[in-house]
Amino acid sequence: MQVVILDNADAVANYGANIFVRRLQRQPASVFGLATGSTPVALYQKLIQTYERGEVSFRDVTTFNLDEYLGLSGDHPQSYRHFMNQQLFEHIDINPGNTYVPPGNASNPISACEEYEQLIEKHGGIDIQLLGIGRNGHIGFNEPSSGLRSRTRVKTLTPATIDDNARFFEDDEYQPHLSITMGIGTILDSRQVVLLATGSHKADAIRDTVEGPLSAACPASALQMHTNAVVIVDEAAAARLQHADFYKHIERENQQLLAQLGIN
Ligand code: PGA
Repeated sequence: MQVVILDNADAVANYGANIFVRRLQRQPASVFGLATGSTPVALYQKLIQTYERGEVSFRDVTTFNLDEYLGLSGDHPQSYRHFMNQQLFEHIDINPGNTYVPPGNASNPISACEEYEQLIEKHGGIDIQLLGIGRNGHIGFNEPSSGLRSRTRVKTLTPATIDDNARFFEDDEYQPHLSITMGIGTILDSRQVVLLATGSHKADAIRDTVEGPLSAACPASALQMHTNAVVIVDEAAAARLQHADFYKHIERENQQLLAQLGIN
């Protein structure tokens, strides 16, 4: 696992966005796995700016989002489909038909999960999966105790996650307690994983992800099994890492090597 510790949230978004931009410039028909939450928003803004400067096109890109609330249709203002349209898709030249989000209003959610897996496979798998992380170490809606090889399925949200997300819902508004989420196994099948975390409230989850045991108690720790996972954090989220200096040293060495090889 590559751990990149940067000064602030803006640098985290920049570093993450550059990974997507470089891939897109090499491979215009990339398949990207995308995430919701507040953390990825700054990265999406960087991607939009890069698009507006004419440096990339999303014309041939396909996207798969990690998760969606069960019981909300895509036009609901709190649905993740709505979030993605507003935060990214409406601002770039992607074909809306190539953007997939699990169907929160599926009449048969169980078969919808299987179909989502098949759709990812039909597109050749995900090139880069973007992830945020919950305070409890969840990735997507894979809450603690999720099977480390799980596939796309219906999951119950923990009270902690429901509390964290309550800020987006009006007091009298229905807040779903169930979701459809890619599984941890689905995420691990992506060819590259990019996890972003900023702020001191993520410091415990990042410590458990990077230095804790591989455990369903911290679903993101499953990334220790991935061959190409990068965890990009600001100083606040890195505060509880025991080997932070070593990770910074490795990153400096990596950057020097890339500079010598002429790779930006
Ligand atoms: P956040 O959510 O980016 O809003 O903190 C992350 C997550 O729960 O995956």
